[in-house]
Amino acid sequence: MITTTGLTKIYRSGRSRGHEITALDGVDLHVREGEVFGVVGRSGAGKSSLIRCVNLLERPTAGTVSVDGTDLTALAGRGRRAGKDLRRARSSIGMVFQHFNLLSSRTVQDNIELPLEILGHSGQERSRRALELLDLVGLTDKARVYPAQLSGGQKQRVGIARALAGKPKVLLSDEATSALDPETTRSILRLLRDINQQLGLTVLLITHEMEVVKTICDSAALMERGRITESGTVGDLLATPGSRLARELFPVDGAGNGPGGTVLDVTFHGDAATQPVISQLSRTYNIDISILGAAMDTVGGRQIGRMRIELPGTFEENVVPVGFLREQGLQVEIVNAAPQVAETVALTKEGTK
Ligand SMILES: Nc1ncnc2c1ncn2[C@@H]1O[C@H](COP(=O)(O)OP(=O)(O)OP(=O)(O)O)[C@@H](O)[C@H]1O
Ligand SMILES: [Mg+2]
Repeated sequence: MITTTGLTKIYRSGRSRGHEITALDGVDLHVREGEVFGVVGRSGAGKSSLIRCVNLLERPTAGTVSVDGTDLTALAGRGRRAGKDLRRARSSIGMVFQHFNLLSSRTVQDNIELPLEILGHSGQERSRRALELLDLVGLTDKARVYPAQLSGGQKQRVGIARALAGKPKVLLSDEATSALDPETTRSILRLLRDINQQLGLTVLLITHEMEVVKTICDSAALMERGRITESGTVGDLLATPGSRLARELFPVDGAGNGPGGTVLDVTFHGDAATQPVISQLSRTYNIDISILGAAMDTVGGRQIGRMRIELPGTFEENVVPVGFLREQGLQVEIVNAAPQVAETVALTKEGTK
């Protein structure tokens, strides 16, 4: 539904535009029809640049963007004559913002009608559609009030209704819940999920909150310094050894009991999640296992768990038990041994954004 290839954005600023910032560095993204796709990354990673390039609010420096089979970059490159085609293609993309961007001088209903005015719909059509959307977002009784009279969550509902006015196939959201408290965030996420399912809408959202990914995303990507470094369905990411997104989604903490032990992070998914592997390990090798931390959850209908455990002895002494765990279908990462592992742990601790 949304595909970018080699998407690059270089901002030029300063005297004679000599200062360059590469915000996007060859991004290949593929969002399937009907899915909720989350992009996470630290501040400055290029997330907003990506979303602005996807709807051509920002002209990419290189690469292509296609939405619902239409190559938007080709349309944008064809000059003024293609402007109308580009506007039409863009109307199939709705956009939701962190700070709502509502017009304070217009009522809620008039805010929702605005994109339809621009598209040239008649007054009657506009108000019929606006009332439908107000019902969808649960704000029927607020049609005549002004944005200043609404709570943050209600404002975002209006923002979502306005984004849906032109019956888009794709909804783009840049940190739509970052300005909201946790409970309101959950209700907005539920609304986005309902819209995604009821209308079959494809959603590309940007967030720095792992909770958002866990709650509604089918797939996710990690963005770093203008590149996508990890991407896949949430289930696949959790099953990928060494995935940093998986570790951020399922953080397990807990320091070891001191030198002389081997600390492991074990990820359970699929059948392995229901097997008593830890007690089997303990019995088979006659070792005492300390559980330092654990997290269990259902993601995308699959039972997933992570556990940090400590085995007595050095890594070399534990090669066989580690092999046993891996044979049971568990993913095992060594936390306190190889230096490159220590490095990824340090990165995880800093977190995203
Ligand atoms: N209009 C612009 N002109 C010049 N540089 C820009 C512009 N917009 C963004 N940048 C730079 O591009 C890089 C990526 O910015 P972007 O806003 O895409 O990051 P982000 O991942 O959305 O960050 P945040 O999480 O803070 O919103 C940053 O270094 C930023 O300073
Ligand atoms: Mg941003």
